Amino acid sequence: MVVSLIATACIHYYMVPPIENVIEKALARSVAQYKLLYKSVEKLDGTLPRSIGKDGVLETSDASFWTSGFFPGSLWYLYEYSNDPQLKEMADKITQRVESQQYNCDNHDVGFMINCSYGNKFRLTNDTSSVKVIVNAGKSLSTRFRKTVGSIRSWSHPESLKWEFPVIIDNMMNLELLIKAANLSGDKKLYEIAVSHANTTLKNHFRKDFSSYHVVSYDSITGSVQTRCTAQGYNDESAWSRGQAWGLYGYTMMYRETKDVVYLEQAKNIANFILTNKNLPDDKIPYWDFDDPNIPNALRDASAAAIMASAFVELSTFVDSKLAKKYIETAEKQIRSLASDHYLADLGTNKGFILKHSVGYLSNDSEVDVPLTYADYYFIEAMLRYKTLVMKE
Ligand code: GLY
Repeated sequence: MVVSLIATACIHYYMVPPIENVIEKALARSVAQYKLLYKSVEKLDGTLPRSIGKDGVLETSDASFWTSGFFPGSLWYLYEYSNDPQLKEMADKITQRVESQQYNCDNHDVGFMINCSYGNKFRLTNDTSSVKVIVNAGKSLSTRFRKTVGSIRSWSHPESLKWEFPVIIDNMMNLELLIKAANLSGDKKLYEIAVSHANTTLKNHFRKDFSSYHVVSYDSITGSVQTRCTAQGYNDESAWSRGQAWGLYGYTMMYRETKDVVYLEQAKNIANFILTNKNLPDDKIPYWDFDDPNIPNALRDASAAAIMASAFVELSTFVDSKLAKKYIETAEKQIRSLASDHYLADLGTNKGFILKHSVGYLSNDSEVDVPLTYADYYFIEAMLRYKTLVMKE
């Protein structure tokens, strides 16, 4: 009897290793992979890694592309995890490549670019030179705010000009930079812009079931909504998975920063939409769009899962114990799935990226079922958050 109990426990241990072990293994792999990726981009002056192209070649971007801050940000997180001075040096060097973006007023993504890179650098090193960059970037982002709308304009690129004043749900993520810039500079206006944007998005982006539209475009004179639609999702009325993840993360972050319970309720409602959705698979890695009619044969999106996992861990710290358990269990499932052989790249493969199987922009046939730097960034963040917020207990 005792022998059989021990045998069962051993089988369980080997089949379902403790989450601590899963995270340690995935973080160690992430360090090794990103050192390889660094070697490839070190010699490519000024460029940042992005993905793997259809030709199997490493795809890079210049600093003005929206994903430029994720690679430096991940190197900072991996330095935080490992305390390895080599990673600190790498992070520092690569972070300099995005410095020019502090003056970028062309799109809302300056938040991703500068907060993930310089935001993490400042958090970990307290260096005064990052403060100027963060504050300048916040001011650049604030130039896109229109009082009559109450929001920051997301896009201005030629394909977006069919919309008068497009705001995408992703834009919630850029508010963290504004709040940081407000705190560091004492400029209350930056904070007020972040709050106004979050309130306008809360009012106009969500359906009754708390799924969100991808794009809402406004009349820039009256501030009224002109259209609600999609750019990257399956269709205008579908729930594009990464958009739901951005919303979940964005309102959780806004609650952390403001303590306004309206944002907490919004995050909980978005979480409920995700967790009760019949199309969320058992392994909790969402299909790229919750409403793709090809489900269960549709592609999964590892990036959406990674963003959700990170948000669920943080959200669990703000709610009652019953809900917290549910959110932590979901995040744990997502981390375990992403750390499995199907999603986590073998050492030395995947051009050094950490995760496989993300979907960037399916309807544009761009970055489909590939690694993406933001999937890696939020995966690392989710694991570090799990270690500090959940495993500490
Ligand atoms: N922010 C762009 C995307 O999520 O694809």
